[in-house]
Amino acid sequence: MAKNIYTKRDDGRKMTEVRPMTAKVGIVPSADGSASFETGKTKAIAVVRGPRTLHPQHMQNAKTGILRVNYGMMPFSVEDRIRPGPNRRSEEISKVTEWALNSVVDLTGFPNTVVDVFIQIPQADAGTRVAGINAAAMALAHAGLPMKQMVSAIGVGKIDQTLVVDLDKFEDSEFHDGEGSTDIPIVLTSRTKEIALLQLDGKISVDEFKEVIEMGKVACDDILKVQMEALKNGGKDE
Ligand code: CDP
Repeated sequence: MAKNIYTKRDDGRKMTEVRPMTAKVGIVPSADGSASFETGKTKAIAVVRGPRTLHPQHMQNAKTGILRVNYGMMPFSVEDRIRPGPNRRSEEISKVTEWALNSVVDLTGFPNTVVDVFIQIPQADAGTRVAGINAAAMALAHAGLPMKQMVSAIGVGKIDQTLVVDLDKFEDSEFHDGEGSTDIPIVLTSRTKEIALLQLDGKISVDEFKEVIEMGKVACDDILKVQMEALKNGGKDE
């Protein structure tokens, strides 16, 4: 099969360009912390509740509080209705999100407690796990929980033979003429620029992989600015 080169993005973006972003905190006033993060047509909402005493008691950790993430897509977030409730994909995304956030959140000051993070996707156009992580990190900061630093997340991918940032659903789909697409969600810490999460499902060379990380770092810097701006603007009492 001929190997096509992806030269023009469906929405006219540069290969390194993130979709237009918006971010807000305090969107759920009754919660301890809340935030939304949008990139293009993908929207994520995160709500934080806690720290509160964890039940059942045998699950408590006397040395630290526990972070518990629940990710879900709303039934009409995509064209085909999604069955409500957990599934293998949502459980995987909840777990990896928990790992990524655990690398920056410090709950040692809250032994025997749990902090619940609920992430909902009302509208999905690819990149929902990274949008969810961006929203969740903001919601945790908005809740005033101790964080060593922020995290920002982006998907970097390969379409046929071209590396691109922030794939939309069209780009994430398998129907390209050449080698299909690969999407690599990357989560970076804001200060030390460490990788808090990286998932790779597909084929990529070592040189391309290095470029993916560099592209991810640049994109995460842009995302971090949007997150910080929202946190600065959205005090808890707004
Ligand atoms: O959303 P993310 O890229 O993190 O995860 P994915 O499993 O690679 O899904 C990519 C996209 O496929 C989602 O963002 C949705 O737009 C779409 N999707 C869908 O249409 N139906 C599903 N059951 C799951 C995902």
